Amino acid sequence: MEAKAGSTYNIAVIAGDGIGREVMPEGMRVLEEVGHRCGIGFNWLEYPWSCDYYRAHGRMCPEDAMETLSKSDSIFLGAIGQPDVPDHISLWQLLMPIRRSFDQYVNLRPVRLFRGISCPLAGMKPGDIDYYVVRENSEGEYSQIGGRMFTGTPRETAFQESVFTRTGMERIMKYAFELARKLNRPHVTSATKSNGIIHTLPFWDQVFNETSARYPGIRANQLHIDAFCANLVLKPQAFDVIVASNLFGDILSDLGPATTGSLGIAPSGNLNPEREHPSMFEPVHGSAPDIAGRHIANPIGQIWSGAMMLRHLGHGEAADMVEKAIETVLAEGKTRTPDLGGKSSTEEVGKAIAGAVC
Ligand code: NAI
Ligand code: MG
Repeated sequence: MEAKAGSTYNIAVIAGDGIGREVMPEGMRVLEEVGHRCGIGFNWLEYPWSCDYYRAHGRMCPEDAMETLSKSDSIFLGAIGQPDVPDHISLWQLLMPIRRSFDQYVNLRPVRLFRGISCPLAGMKPGDIDYYVVRENSEGEYSQIGGRMFTGTPRETAFQESVFTRTGMERIMKYAFELARKLNRPHVTSATKSNGIIHTLPFWDQVFNETSARYPGIRANQLHIDAFCANLVLKPQAFDVIVASNLFGDILSDLGPATTGSLGIAPSGNLNPEREHPSMFEPVHGSAPDIAGRHIANPIGQIWSGAMMLRHLGHGEAADMVEKAIETVLAEGKTRTPDLGGKSSTEEVGKAIAGAVC
């Protein structure tokens, strides 16, 4: 569904920590540019929630943060995390509450090899690597159920339960098949390991088979996660849409971008497909403390996430314009950050992409 020009959106902006604060202004710059050309307005609502906020207030965000965010049309996030704040605090007090309160049960990550990028896999051309990872984002292996017993004794024991619900699996698989249909890429591959994990993953396979039976025009196959990783490196051409549990999707969606040149270009959407709640768009990378403050972070992951946000809001043409501008700047090869072998700053790349929007 294409939304109308003339719309204005309330976008909650959480730049976060480290390079999140450096790449976010470039994401906003490119959206402003394309918005100006297409008649789309953005009302940026910026929130300082971050590890600095945690040090000042003892928590990552205010108590009513989710209520505040619920009033926005979308959430645009940079990256969260700083070495002196434990990751489980920054993740479980801000990112996880957003993903779970707003039932953002799809984590969508496109993986694409662009023209002009040197690929770490030998012999690959643009077009050879071009697929989508659809990761289950609300249950699976990342659950809070478990505990530790007999701590500090020789009998010390840890338990961690996985949660696989029919509802959770049906909705993520339906999303993957609908995406394959919409993109006209009629092929979905499921990541499993039902030979080793013998309760939850045979159930996953069963729901995958039941779902695929409802989409007779779409080819469906499954691979065990170990072979999947090998295939993603050796035969990336074989993939169109991948559906995976929380843990397997996490791993595959880091491996994928690593094969396309730089983690710095990879985008993601945390989607609530029913649109009952806002969705959240963020680059795949973290706050990169090793390069923060040097203004050399690649802003393309943030900018491409902005394109995904436009698409979700119903502005597919504007999203295409941003993706084409990224393609143009990468193919020209003149303006690039050091992770792609260039010497340009974050801001120079942002400005080049904004300038290439047409
Ligand atoms: P990271 O993604 O921040 O960095 C990994 C490596 O990639 C580093 O060498 C970094 O310099 C490089 N890199 C990342 N983004 C780049 C960019 N845009 N341009 C150029 N180079 C880039 O992952 P790391 O180091 O494991 O985590 C750092 C912090 O970020 C931790 O606190 C972690 O918890 C957090 N994190 C947050 C995420 C989020 O906000 N969603 C996601 C992943 C990590
Ligand atoms: Mg990850």
